[in-house]
Amino acid sequence: MATMRALDHIAIAVLDLDAAVTQYRERLGANLIETETVESQGVRLAKLDVGGVTIELFQALDPESRIGRSIAKRGAGIHHLAFAVDDVDATLEEYREADVPLVDEHARPGSANSRVAFLRPEALAGALVEVVEPDRAKSETGNSEESEGS
Ligand code: CO
Repeated sequence: MATMRALDHIAIAVLDLDAAVTQYRERLGANLIETETVESQGVRLAKLDVGGVTIELFQALDPESRIGRSIAKRGAGIHHLAFAVDDVDATLEEYREADVPLVDEHARPGSANSRVAFLRPEALAGALVEVVEPDRAKSETGNSEESEGS
């Protein structure tokens, strides 16, 4: 079955990203790694390091979008766990063959040039889980910008 590498991040939906980042920094000593707007997912997010764990706080860009309505309905709080895989396409193929319930039949763009796919919560005892293939260029060369356009 799928070969998981490690926990990539814990994602938490928030209503006010800047306020949430301040809370995590002041109350948990979190270090802000980066912020990013991911148009394809309709969110603005901040990645923070807390003792080696990456916490991803995200806010919907548009409250009327699918993700915006979902957050409004479910409320702010823990949204999903993300686990890194070497090859998200191969992982999805294995899941399809095993009839694992999927949100995404095909990988889609994630943050930081990653590729991601979500499993349906019933696939993992009620928790929403994402599999993420980190930026390949980055992990192979250590610098994605340099490897592009050359
Ligand atoms: Co995620």
